Amino acid sequence: MTQHSHDRLLIIDFGSQVTQLIARRLRELNVYCEIHPYQNVTAAFLAEFAPKAVIFSGGPDSVMREGSPRPPREVYEIGVPILGICYGQQVMMQDLGGKVEAGEHATAEFGRAYVTPASDSRPDFVNGWFMDGSGREQVWMSHGDHVSEIASGFEVLGTSPGAPFAITADLKRRFFAVQFHPEVHHTPNGKTLYENFVRDAGFTGDWTMGAYREDAIERIRDQVGDKKVVCALSGGVDSSVAAVLLHEAIGEQLTCVFVDHGLLRQNEAEEVVGMFREHYNLPLIHADESELFLGELDGVSDPETKRKIIGKLFIDVFQKHADSIGGVEFLAQGTLYPDVIESVSFSGGPSVTIKSHHNVGGLPEKMGLKLVEPLRELFKDEVRALGHELGLPASFIGRHPFPGPGLAIRCPGEITRAKLEILRKADAVYIDQIRKHGLYDEIWQAFVAILPVRTVGVMGDGRTYDYACALRAVTSVDGMTADYYPFTHEFLGETATRIINEVKGINRVTYDITSKPPGTIEWE
Ligand code: XMP
Repeated sequence: MTQHSHDRLLIIDFGSQVTQLIARRLRELNVYCEIHPYQNVTAAFLAEFAPKAVIFSGGPDSVMREGSPRPPREVYEIGVPILGICYGQQVMMQDLGGKVEAGEHATAEFGRAYVTPASDSRPDFVNGWFMDGSGREQVWMSHGDHVSEIASGFEVLGTSPGAPFAITADLKRRFFAVQFHPEVHHTPNGKTLYENFVRDAGFTGDWTMGAYREDAIERIRDQVGDKKVVCALSGGVDSSVAAVLLHEAIGEQLTCVFVDHGLLRQNEAEEVVGMFREHYNLPLIHADESELFLGELDGVSDPETKRKIIGKLFIDVFQKHADSIGGVEFLAQGTLYPDVIESVSFSGGPSVTIKSHHNVGGLPEKMGLKLVEPLRELFKDEVRALGHELGLPASFIGRHPFPGPGLAIRCPGEITRAKLEILRKADAVYIDQIRKHGLYDEIWQAFVAILPVRTVGVMGDGRTYDYACALRAVTSVDGMTADYYPFTHEFLGETATRIINEVKGINRVTYDITSKPPGTIEWE
C-alpha cells in the first residue's frame, strides 16, 4: 500500500453493481477513497489503511444466509464514522444487534420510492434533505430483505412504504445506515448525503488534481529511483497522460515506444509523434513495423486470430526496442481504476471472452519488468482532468478511444492494403463531417468499418462495383454499454454523399444502429 498524505476513506465492497459509483460521488467531493473487496479487509488491513471513514457497499447476498459477507468486527471499534448502504445497512444492523427479515412482496422494493422524515430530528446527516414542498425525497431502492428492528443506539431519520428504517443513525458513534442507494442517478439528491457524511467525518476535500499530480510525481520518483522506464505510447488519452506525467517525474530516464502496426488512422502516426516531439522533449522511438504486422495478417479473416497475431507481434516488437534501449527495469502503463477494480472483482471468476482485448498485459512477466502505473487510482474523466493539469493539448485529451488492434477490427474479413487505404479515407471524411457539425465531443466514439462485400451502383452513366461501408457512432460512459448516436437524416445523407464522392472504392454507405448489448462497439 502506498503512503498517502491525504485523508482516506475505505469502501468495503460487498459486491454491488454500483460500488464504483460511490467512489465517483466521493471523488466529485474531492475525497480520496479506495474500494476493497470485503475478503481483503482484515483487522490488520484496517490498521494499515487507517481510514478516516468507512462505507459498506450494497451487495447481492442475504445477511440471513449463513456465511454471507461481513466486515471484520474491528471496523466498529476503530472510532471512525461508518455509512452502510442497502446490504451494508443490513449487515451493520445485524452485527450491532438489530434484526433483518426476509423479503416479502409487501416489503421488497425495487426502483423509485419516496422517503419522508420519521421525526423532527434533523441531524447534519440529512441536511438539505426533505426540503421541497412535499417534504419527501426521491430515492432508488433495490432490496428484498429489510431491517425489521434497529440496533440499540440508533434512531430513525427517514422512512418509506417498504422500508420503515430507510435512514437510521447512531449519532453518538457516527454510524449511519440507509436502505436505498444514494450513489445512483435516480436518487437525485444522494450526493448531499455523501457530502454530509464526509464533512461530518472531517474530510476537508483536499483531493484535487493539482495535489494528485504532486503526489503522483513523488511516488513515481520513490518507486523508480534512478532506473530506466519504457512506456508503450498509443496516442490514446491514458498512455499519453501517463507518459507526460512520468516525463515530468523522471525526465530522460523514460523512453516511449510508439508502435506503428500499419493499422492506424489517416495521419495518426505523424500526429502522435509530432505532438510529442513538438511539445515534449522526451525520448521517443517511432517503430514503423507495418510490413511485419500486415505480412503476418495476410489472408487472415478470423477476428480472434487477428487479435492474437497483433497482440503477440506487439509484445515481440516492444521487447526488441526495450532491449535496444538496454538496462530497462520498469514498464509504465496507463492502467485506470476501473481496470484495477475489475481484476479484483467481488464476483471473481472469468466472464465469457467476447473478444481478446489487446493491451500490453503479459509484457511485464515476459520481460521481467516491474510495473509503474501512475493512473491506477483514476477514472477516465479524472485522467482527462489530469491531462489538462499537465498542459496536454485539448485536442488530444478529447480524442475518441481507439482500439489496440486498430483498423484490423474495422475491416471484417481479409485485410488488404487497398481496403485499409479506402477505410482511412472514408473514416477521415466521416470524422471531418462530425467535427464540422460540432458533434465530436457529444459522441463517445465514431468510425467507419469497411464491409467485406461489394455492391453494384451507378455513378455518372457508368456501373460501379465497389465496397459498402458502415458508419458507427455511439454514446457511452465507459464503453461497457452503448447506444447508437441519433444523427439527423440530413447529416447522414450529406455524409454518405461526401464519402461516395470523395472516396474511390466505396459506392454504398450504411448506418449501424445497433446498441451494446446486443452488439459490441467495434465490428470484430
Ligand atoms: P467493444 O467492441 O468490445 O469495445 O464493445 C469497447 C471499447 O473498447 C475498445 N476496444 C479495445 N481497446 N484494445 C483496446 O485497447 C482492444 O483490443 C479493444 N477492442 C475494443 C473499443 O474501441 C471501444 O472503445
